[in-house]
Amino acid sequence: MNSSSHNSRRGFLKSTAALGVGYWVAGRASADEPGAAAPPAKDLNFACIGVEGKGTSDSNEAGEHGHIVAICDVDETKLAKAAERFPDAKRFYDFRELFDEMSGQFDAVTISTPDHTHAPAAVRAMKEGKAVYCQKPLTHSLYEARRMSEVARETKVVTQMGNQGTAQSGLRRSAAIVQAGALGPVHEVHVWTNRPIWPQGDARRESKPVPKNLHWNLWLGPAPRRDFAEGYAPFAWRGWWDFGTGALGDMACHTMNMPYMALDLRDPIAVTAETAGHNKDSYPKWSIIHYEFAATDKRPAVKMTWYDGGKRPPLALLEGAQIKDSGALIVGEKGKLYAPDDYGGAMQLLGNVTAPEVKIKESPGHFKEFVAAIKGGDPTVSNFADYAGPLTEMVLLGNLAVWAADAGNGPRIEWDAKNLAAKVTPAYERLVKPEYRSGYSI
Ligand SMILES: NC(=O)c1ccc[n+]([C@@H]2O[C@H](COP(=O)([O-])OP(=O)(O)OC[C@H]3O[C@@H](n4cnc5c(N)ncnc54)[C@H](O)[C@@H]3O)[C@@H](O)[C@H]2O)c1
Repeated sequence: MNSSSHNSRRGFLKSTAALGVGYWVAGRASADEPGAAAPPAKDLNFACIGVEGKGTSDSNEAGEHGHIVAICDVDETKLAKAAERFPDAKRFYDFRELFDEMSGQFDAVTISTPDHTHAPAAVRAMKEGKAVYCQKPLTHSLYEARRMSEVARETKVVTQMGNQGTAQSGLRRSAAIVQAGALGPVHEVHVWTNRPIWPQGDARRESKPVPKNLHWNLWLGPAPRRDFAEGYAPFAWRGWWDFGTGALGDMACHTMNMPYMALDLRDPIAVTAETAGHNKDSYPKWSIIHYEFAATDKRPAVKMTWYDGGKRPPLALLEGAQIKDSGALIVGEKGKLYAPDDYGGAMQLLGNVTAPEVKIKESPGHFKEFVAAIKGGDPTVSNFADYAGPLTEMVLLGNLAVWAADAGNGPRIEWDAKNLAAKVTPAYERLVKPEYRSGYSI
């Protein structure tokens, strides 16, 4: 890059975006070059997809670090409200049109839509060279999670999933303490949540007229066509198989995150579930899911159990510590580490364990880490290729077991992670890779 480009970083950003090259987001050489000035705070242009609910804070964070040039929401009322915050942004109802019309004019995207529309929007963004901040769980299906990792690796764009606990020093410290061997060999992990806090286990809702402000067909996106009804949008879509990922998908990318980092819990070899029973339309009222992980060169084989809908691990495991609504417990031969919260940031050591001195890399903050990586700084931790994709795959495999456990206790499903397939039966293919409606692809 020549010196005049250095002097006009803003112009550079604009021109690379206009070319659709995505150099700025893919490459990170320029900030390290001699003479490169620290970039002004608002050099980046963002497009924000889904701008209420979690999208409110995601778009606000983007607005703190850049210019919001485009906003997209399928709800006209919500879009109009967001336009009051970002009056200069061009408005869209359909994210595909946003990319068609404006792809040359922004560097990064936030995606804060329901789970079933993350992948089509994110893959399109990555293929167009955009940095992507996408909410957790990264995707709705196992295939989408694998695909997101692959496309992130191919395109080399900066990515970050919205499991913000990853940036907490407490979470990183707990993971480092386990890795330092403070608990001795670990064979067992328990993780639980107070979710669902939305209806699950119900029959399909009675059809209702689509509200005037809602583009229902766009809200459905790649999911199978169904009539509008109350109890899907906003928020409660979490409880329906076609849109959400149940209590597990909603929380495990947070609550399993610390044990995942500590023990590298990727590529389970088998999964089994017990559930309240369900109709394969709405998720069950409760589930208990057993994951099995093979030994690695750093740790023995591990069994992890997930509990939701009021189910909890045996209290005796906590050795008198108070059980909280959500938590993670890592059980070692010498002692236990208990994270009594949703995000894995808090820590109690149980048994005769002393925390060793550990070194961790502090994060500037989860979204700031994303912005810094775009500007040539250190890579994000919860990037799609190496961290968030495999984490989401591991989490969502639990739902395969829940699907199979539609009448109480399900079969043990042996999993071939490399080929993304259950070993014994092709019966789960539809769940691993749901078909998209026409107009959507990844
Ligand atoms: N990281 C966290 O702590 C956290 C917290 C809450 C939610 N989330 C995640 O954020 C995402 C959104 O959850 P929510 O509860 O805010 O959902 P929501 O139902 O409130 O939807 C968010 C916004 O997206 C819009 N939207 C829906 N479909 C769209 C589409 N196809 N294109 C554009 N806009 C669309 C909605 O109208 C709404 O404004 C989910 O993936 C959820 O898991 C993360």
